[in-house]
Amino acid sequence: MADKLTRRGFMAAGGALAASTAFADKDVAAPSPKPPADPFLGTGGVPLVVGDPCLQVPGETTMGVSWAVSGLSKGVVEYADNPDFRDAKTVKSGGYGLVPIDVSALQVRLTGLKPATKYWYRTVTTPFVDYKNIYDAKLGAPIVSKVHSFTTLGTGAVAHFCMISDTHARWDTFQMMVSKLKEISPSAVVWNGDATNTTQTKATAVEIFLNPPIEARDWSADVPVMFESGNHDFRGSWISKKEEVILPRDPSERRGDQWDLKWNFAVRLGDMALVGLDTGEDKPDAHPKWFGLANFEAYRRAQAKWLEEQFARPEIASARFKVVFCHIPLFAAKDSPEYPHDGVKIDPQDFAHWSRECAELWGPIITRSGVQLVVCGHLHRFHFDEPAPERPWAQVVGGGCGVNLKKGRFPTVVEGKVEDGRLRLVVHDVFSKRVVFDRLIDA
Ligand SMILES: [Fe+2]
Ligand SMILES: [Fe+2]
Repeated sequence: MADKLTRRGFMAAGGALAASTAFADKDVAAPSPKPPADPFLGTGGVPLVVGDPCLQVPGETTMGVSWAVSGLSKGVVEYADNPDFRDAKTVKSGGYGLVPIDVSALQVRLTGLKPATKYWYRTVTTPFVDYKNIYDAKLGAPIVSKVHSFTTLGTGAVAHFCMISDTHARWDTFQMMVSKLKEISPSAVVWNGDATNTTQTKATAVEIFLNPPIEARDWSADVPVMFESGNHDFRGSWISKKEEVILPRDPSERRGDQWDLKWNFAVRLGDMALVGLDTGEDKPDAHPKWFGLANFEAYRRAQAKWLEEQFARPEIASARFKVVFCHIPLFAAKDSPEYPHDGVKIDPQDFAHWSRECAELWGPIITRSGVQLVVCGHLHRFHFDEPAPERPWAQVVGGGCGVNLKKGRFPTVVEGKVEDGRLRLVVHDVFSKRVVFDRLIDA
């Protein structure tokens, strides 16, 4: 892992490297340190490599920070509401009791923040050189990250989001997307599923979510990301543990009976309410491909109850614009070739183009609640459905990682912002660098 990270020019391990350069002044080269076979026994003196921080699960008063490490280490986040770090606070990983340490990813959640407020922060990561047992464990030199900043969500925040989707670890098109995100600089990014393909190891998830092998590895260090799973994000022998890499929403946001709705969000961003749902896998639970591992039908019903409750919250109900995000589209026109592929029956194409089950469970709530826009991915192409009398919300489909211009396939970033009291929806083709759609939506 350390070698892999170093080859990619990952963040320099200042403190640990500084310690190791003491050998360089001597005439006789010191033997290279060797890590123990079990990484949980320590780094063995191999310089620690630390990734750029990734902002996750933002809220009005909370912010998650996750980052990749190349070996056994502990980490804290220092933050303040001023760039000089006056009265800075230091926050450890985890909650009460023992502070978690790890060999590949560290996670810290900041709480008690002020809404719609800018904060400056940095990570401090310290390797365990040796951890055979707690009585003779040995720490290395701490590594301090660059200073980054974020702004918490809330009614006072700027109503401006971007959506990416179906990135599928295709790094060339992912770089195109994050370059556009850096240029737009929205208040928050929704990563609307299918970030992965099939995930067999934690290292794969760390690479995708925390340490992508692209030029702009720090793409989520200053803009927070709200992740919602796509169907692929449920595939692979390791993927059920993805919260070790993507922090779940703050526990205070959900009741005990909604504990498994780990990434659903309903948050205010200025005049907009953003609501995120998980459409789950794209085939019925009884499909033989799932080996009995699918339990998404109950999950979708639980989310219908959750959704109804979120729209009843005064701060969500009072938003001028309400935007729903989910991976699989909720609508296909009856006369379209997509319509028969609804994810409910065993499909000869084996690919759902829309989710009839989610549409039937969530559609009436979305309609009743005055949602203007539903933002989806999954189809790997741009598509827009105009609102209709029986479905007063528009649906935009974006994202995608492939390029086939003859078939109209190109990766897009979907942008939404409130301008002069209207919701402006812009779809950017990041391959050909053009705007393919620009629409003003009224409340
Ligand atoms: Fe996809
Ligand atoms: Fe998908």
